[in-house]
Amino acid sequence: MQKSETNPLAEPGRSTRNVDPCIVVIFGATGDLTGRKLMPALYNLGKEGMLPPNFACVGFARRPKTHAEFRDEVKKDVGQFSRVKPVDEPFWKNFQEQIFYHQSEFDQDEGYKKLAEFLKQLDARHMTRGNRIFYLSVQPKFFPLIIGKLRQHGLAYDPHTTTDRWSRVVIEKPFGRDSASAAELQKEISRSLDESQIYRIDHYLGKETVQNLLVFRFANSIFESLWNYKHIDHVQITVSEDIGIGSRGHFFEEEGLLRDIVQNHMMQLLSNVAMEPPVNLSATAIRDEKVKVLQSIRPLSKADFENAVVRGQYGPGFINGEQAIGYRQETDVNPNSNVETYVAMRLFIDNWRWAGVPFYLRGGKRLPKRGTEIAITFKDAPGVLFQSREQHNPANVLALRIQPNEGIAMRINCKVPGPSSPIQPVKMDFRYGSYFGQTPPEAYERLIWECILGDNTLFARCDEVAHSWQIITPILEYWANHPSKDFPNYASGTWGPKAADEMIAKDKRSWRIL
Ligand code: BG6
Repeated sequence: MQKSETNPLAEPGRSTRNVDPCIVVIFGATGDLTGRKLMPALYNLGKEGMLPPNFACVGFARRPKTHAEFRDEVKKDVGQFSRVKPVDEPFWKNFQEQIFYHQSEFDQDEGYKKLAEFLKQLDARHMTRGNRIFYLSVQPKFFPLIIGKLRQHGLAYDPHTTTDRWSRVVIEKPFGRDSASAAELQKEISRSLDESQIYRIDHYLGKETVQNLLVFRFANSIFESLWNYKHIDHVQITVSEDIGIGSRGHFFEEEGLLRDIVQNHMMQLLSNVAMEPPVNLSATAIRDEKVKVLQSIRPLSKADFENAVVRGQYGPGFINGEQAIGYRQETDVNPNSNVETYVAMRLFIDNWRWAGVPFYLRGGKRLPKRGTEIAITFKDAPGVLFQSREQHNPANVLALRIQPNEGIAMRINCKVPGPSSPIQPVKMDFRYGSYFGQTPPEAYERLIWECILGDNTLFARCDEVAHSWQIITPILEYWANHPSKDFPNYASGTWGPKAADEMIAKDKRSWRIL
């Protein structure tokens, strides 16, 4: 078994933990994610001295290309998408010498044989000692095929018998399309890999602000003692995006927002905010607690599908004053598509801590602005002495801003100076940017680094994924049997369908304005 030596949450900053030499092989090297996220992440890790000195990266893809051509493309992507610009020429000159390209189809045995030989040569040249990360940035249908071939050609080792070098496989989301397909995928890949070798990415777990949730909750006694049904009225989790689906029409038509955002990113936010304190900071202890939250979510009933889950699809409208087309007019989208680009729902976590506290989740594309936030609304103080000025506005709200303007804000009631003593809500606001004076590293930097270290705390475990699908799958099934009748039901640039406002209004609450 490969074991985590240290825990990332115990050392939240950039650190100098020892990293083994290794080669990262990226499948799908000419794809969007590689250019926008993965190569800029490796470049920044390299620049900050976080990569092992003995390191190489091989792009694996189907299109023919030379090493030099691939390096030029990577340089262009780094120049455009890296969080630090422009490209540092002297650094790049050396860094590019560690980047290579390997052309093959994903099902071609010859291609894997050649890859094995090539990696051996690189081991000799770069002293990478046989350690490998295989990053699968490909369509999910290729996961079992590639993983099977890696095993067949001795590229993925059996960690029980091979102990002098390691191999790990990073799998991009989505992991399955529902409970059954996720279980099937898990069955297939576990024929070739041990769970300790599988790193299921949910890039939200790599975000500094998401990692800070545990620190914030468990390193501060003042909040934790209020973190329960006695003091909290409700929780709102919002993942709002102003962008549409861009060039991802094919992908989105297959997935929809429930699978793309809710099943993974939002469930991670929910379990981090609702979990019990883990017994220690090991990957197992943290993941165990997150799984318990998912297990405690009350299954949705037919009445919930109709009254507590709302789906939406954007129509034409305006974003920042610019005209925007509707989802059905996007490239590669069926003009009668029934795919949702917005979801709102109410969940309950039936455990001791959260009994009766509603968790409202809302996520959507083409909303007025980008913003991810977890807002904890506390119960009102008894109105014996002071009546809240605005009865419908709760006095105390703790807003954890995941992005942008990363930070934490607390709303409290305050007396306006002067003799008439009116009460007004004011905000205490902490901002990462202004306090720490630096841009946080990209989620992918952190996650690739953790994978090199062999620490899977920030990756989803198989039972976590399975439990999350158990919540989502019944909704998908209900929707499949009850196609929406009113799509498109919100204009681009608005806060989603009216039904979502009505849903929360029935509980005498309202969505927060971001
Ligand atoms: C991805 C989704 O996982 O997350 C995208 O596939 C979405 O649809 C993106 O836009 C959002 O990520 P972030 O980091 O910008 O919040």
